[in-house]
Formats: sequence, structure tokens, C-alpha cells
Amino acid sequence: MVEQQRLTREPRKILITGGAGFIGSNFVHHWCDRYPGDRVVVLDALTYAGNRKNLAGLEGRANLRFVQGDICDRPLIDALLQEEAIDVVAHFAAESHVDRSILGPDAFVRTNVIGTFTLLEAFRQYWNASDQPAHYRFHHVSTDEVYGSLGADDPAFSETTPYAPNSPYSASKAGSDHLVRAYHHTYGLPTLVTNCSNNYGPYHFPEKLIPLMCINILMGKPLPVYGDGQNVRDWLYVGDHCSALDAVIHRGRPGEMYNIGGNNEVKNIDLVNKLCDLMEELAPELPVRPCHQLITFVKDRPGHDRRYAINATKLKTEIGWTPAETVESGLRKTVQWYLSNQDWWQPLLSPEYQAYYKQVYTSV
Ligand code: NAD
Ligand code: DAU
Repeated sequence: MVEQQRLTREPRKILITGGAGFIGSNFVHHWCDRYPGDRVVVLDALTYAGNRKNLAGLEGRANLRFVQGDICDRPLIDALLQEEAIDVVAHFAAESHVDRSILGPDAFVRTNVIGTFTLLEAFRQYWNASDQPAHYRFHHVSTDEVYGSLGADDPAFSETTPYAPNSPYSASKAGSDHLVRAYHHTYGLPTLVTNCSNNYGPYHFPEKLIPLMCINILMGKPLPVYGDGQNVRDWLYVGDHCSALDAVIHRGRPGEMYNIGGNNEVKNIDLVNKLCDLMEELAPELPVRPCHQLITFVKDRPGHDRRYAINATKLKTEIGWTPAETVESGLRKTVQWYLSNQDWWQPLLSPEYQAYYKQVYTSV
């Protein structure tokens, strides 16, 4: 199917917001590899989570443009849509970390709600002024966290599960999802929304569970597991998320939502043990061995969602997408990446990051 797209499709002009972040940059690499004839415009504010190094290897490409800017800047968005004749918006830009949303929700409401609203309004005006081309798309990248928390025996989240966000982060994402839905329903804007489970892989910022554990194992620091470690997440390798987004942008029905997941439910404590096993196998030397002794149970995250699980049947039956990686193959690749790319993550452990770390992990 992807090969067919490559042969038959017209070149697209895609605006990728948040393209210097974790998933956005993986998606920029994916799109440039797969569709070298497309014009790719990356818009990113380069917050603490954005990093030009995530786009290493692509910088010299003639049909890639990087713009440092804010999705709340309406004149900038208007100018980019028009001067680049954009026909697809892939919207990743967001404040994405739950713990930071608990410490300071303001930036989450601003970027995730007002930023998405600004993009939608700009795109609506631009689409109308272009006589509403049927092939234009506004793809909003969202999260499974909007559905809230599951009990151990509850069925996995489907596209009809009612929204019940529990953190300022997930509430701001839910707000943005509702705006996208309303822009399709009211104005007919050709929108798509995907709600994905936890990603992992290259370019994942050190604050998130998997990179944090890999880095702390390499530094011989405590491995902070929140609460009893029995919380469950449904893990998806980031390359699989990118291939799902590609499939939905090309074959999804405007106005629809699609859940994306890897069918890989793992308890946090089991995941941390797996990472310890992999590090012991793959790292040439470690400051503390066995590194499992670094595992430390710490104060729980306030409002911590117990379990997420995704039912991705709609994506499989309607779009024909399934993930390529298992959690075993994906974690192995990821651990190898963090081992081979210490010069990528070392500079991210900045004084600002240390201050954030101290604030969250005061009990470690
Ligand atoms: P990230 O925090 O790694 O990257 C976010 C990027 O957005 C950064 O490059 C940052 O500089 C940029 N950004 C932030 N505010 C901006 C603004 N006002 N204007 C322009 N750019 C701005 O996030 P991520 O993990 O790559 O997540 C990307 C998207 O995917 C988010 O919308 C997130 O909600 C969603 N998502 C993430 C996961 C996950 O597991 N990480 C899972 C499902 C959905
Ligand atoms: O489900 C999708 C979501 O996954 C995305 O929408 C978010 O942007 C992304 O950050 C992620 O949210 P989580 O809160 O699930 O991811 P995080 O890596 O922060 O934590 C994963 C689990 O591990 C969660 O149950 C909290 C726990 N945890 C996390 C950290 C950072 C710990 O036990 N210790 C830690 O130090």
C-alpha cells in the first residue's frame, strides 16, 4: 500500500508543527525518507523539549524548511500556509509531560488549547480562501490520556469511550480534540484526530520514563518508580506511530478519530526490570551491577492514572495498519540507541533540567 502511494500520489506540501520534538522529529525523518518529493515545513518554538539535533542529517535538504516560531502566532501561521501553499497540517506541537503540567498548567492551556485553536482558525480561513480543496487535511496528533483511567478488567479504550481527562495535560489535550471535532462538525474542515498510547524510541526527552531509566542506569542513579509500580501503559515504538499517522493522513476519513496502540500493556515495574536486564546485557560497563538494586519506590504522581489500553481495531480494519515492533524488539533498539547516542542526551541534563528533576523527585 505504501509503495502504491509512492507511485501514484501527487507531491504534498506539509506543515509539521512540533517537528523538533520527540515524535514530531521521528515523523519528519519518516516523511522525508518516504516522500522525498514533498515540501516539508517544520514549525517549532524550540522549548526545552525541542532540539534541532533531532533533525540531524536532514538539514541540507532543499525541500525542507525549518522555522522557529510559536503556534499561537497567528500572523506567522497565516504567512506560512500561504507562502508555502500547504495542503496538509500535521500538528504535533504541545506541552507533553504530565508531571510538568502538575507543576505549572499555564503553558499547557496556552499551547495545547490556544495554540491548536490558532492553527484551526488560520487553516479554516486559508482553506475557505482556496475554495475548500477536498484533498487538504488538518491532522491533530492526540493521546489516549483523554479517556482517563481504566480498572484492571475494563475493556481497552475505543473511539467511543467517553472523555474523562484527569491531569491538566490530558484536560488540555481533550480541549484541543473537542475544538478539532467542532471545526469539522460546524465548518466541514477536513480534520483527522488520532489518539495514541505511550511512545518510546530515539530522541525521547530524558524526563520520560524509558529514557530517564536508561540514563539513570548508565549514571548509577536511583530508578524512581512512582507509587506501587503497578500502573499499566500500552507501549508503542515511535516508528510504528509514524507509520500509523502516515496511513491515516492518506487513507483516513475526514472528521474521524482513530485510536493507535501497540497491544503491549506492561506494568511500570515490569518495564523497569526489563530495561535493567537489557542494560546489563548491552552496556559494556555500568557503575552499579546488578542495576536492579537501584530501583526505588517514590511518592506517587498526584492523580496518577492506573491503566491505559488501546483498542486499535478501527485502524486495523478501516486503514489496514498494524505495528511492526513488539515491545521486546522496540525496547532493545531503544536501549541500543541511548547507549550509542550519549552525546545527544548528555547536554540535555542542563541546570534547568536538574532543577526540574529536584522539584519532582524530592523524595528520591
Ligand atoms: P515533545 O514534548 O517531545 O515535543 C513537543 C514539541 O513541540 C517540541 O519540539 C516543542 O519545542 C514544540 N512546542 C511546544 N510548544 C510549542 C509552541 N507553542 N509552538 C510551537 N512549537 C511548540 O512531545 P512528543 O512526545 O513528541 O508529543 C508530540 C505530540 O504527540 C503531542 O501533541 C502529544 O500530546 C502527542 N502524544 C505523545 C505521546 C507520547 O507518548 N509522547 C503519545 C500520544 C500522543
Ligand atoms: O499515553 C500517552 C502519553 O504518554 C502521552 O500523551 C504523554 O505525552 C506522554 O508523556 C506519556 O504520558 P505518561 O505520563 O504515561 O508517560 P511518562 O513517561 O511520564 O510515565 C510513564 C509511566 O511511568 C507513568 O505511569 C508514570 C510512571 N513514571 C514516570 C516517571 C517519569 C514513574 O514511575 N517514574 C518516573 O520517574
